[in-house]
Amino acid sequence: MPGAAVASGAAPGRCTLVGEHVDYVGGMVLCCPVDRAVAVALRPSADGRWRLVSDGRRVERGEPGPAGDLGDRAFAPAVVLAAEGIRLPALEMAVAADLPEAAGLASSAAVCCAAMVAMLRLVGARMPTGRFVELALAAERDVVGVPCGPLDQAAVVGLPTGGALLLDCGRGTADAVPWHAEAAVLVACDTGETHDVGGAGYRERRAEAEAALRGLGATCVGRIEACDVAAARLPAPLDRRARHLITETHRAATAASALGAGDATTLGLLMSASHASLRDDYEVSTPALDAAVAAALAVPGCLGARLVGAGFGGTAIALVDDPAAESVRAAMQAAVPGSRGAWLLAHAPGLAVTAADVLEG
Ligand code: GLA
Repeated sequence: MPGAAVASGAAPGRCTLVGEHVDYVGGMVLCCPVDRAVAVALRPSADGRWRLVSDGRRVERGEPGPAGDLGDRAFAPAVVLAAEGIRLPALEMAVAADLPEAAGLASSAAVCCAAMVAMLRLVGARMPTGRFVELALAAERDVVGVPCGPLDQAAVVGLPTGGALLLDCGRGTADAVPWHAEAAVLVACDTGETHDVGGAGYRERRAEAEAALRGLGATCVGRIEACDVAAARLPAPLDRRARHLITETHRAATAASALGAGDATTLGLLMSASHASLRDDYEVSTPALDAAVAAALAVPGCLGARLVGAGFGGTAIALVDDPAAESVRAAMQAAVPGSRGAWLLAHAPGLAVTAADVLEG
């Protein structure tokens, strides 16, 4: 494919349905790409400087490596692509998004992925879809230094068939789950409390999860049962952390069966159980997230609700019978005075569909 003088790429956010904070210990996650996205347009810069503008904020530097600013995630793909033998000139980039930033819907992964798609288009390169996912993860985790698991990049890329994905982060597989709960829709409420996946809370939970696994003599949560946790007598809070990891990965697998069977009632109950576990055992919820979830559950027709993403702020989602969607949306927004808005959130095709010109296989 020939290169271009100007190129663009857009990547969706991701919504976890069930399976939060288990990707980095090899657990199962039911998730999907969503209809809110980040778009990147870029071209070679005339003077060899790297520049980015996003929402009125500007950064500029001589190299694409991280500098602790908003250029880090957008420029990082150029670093991993160079190591792959795909060399880019210094770039000027513009970012625009309707996916809220730092709100638990994987805006960071979407920026990296959108930039990487645009870079591949600029130089006329293609790569296998699986390699793209690995490089997008390496850009955020190894170049930017965010201790994230593999969930977001895999979800943003998605599957050629669309719908939801059941990720097995232990085996590294992604299986399509047909969205058979047609009468149920998702409502999202951004609490306005932004979170940072590179922040202290996320790092601490990751370290606790790894310590809990070590205490259980395991490397992957999929091989542990609740009785193993009871027998191991882990000290608090590792006992609660381990209980979340095990119950959440089981819930994700059960939720995938429910979604595939069109059983929205069971899916909703599992989402609410996931929230309770994240609040009580993993302790990553906040009063605003709990208020949004409680407000949603109080409306007839709401099937389940939970925080989405890493927690410590961000977005709450609800699974709702379609006719109740507007009532749930209004109730969630009213329950969170600082909310940046509540809206219908639909599952959407991932990059495997929309960037098929640069992704193969
Ligand atoms: C963030 C991370 C993911 C995952 C989620 C929590 O989005 O980037 O890897 O750990 O939090 O499920």
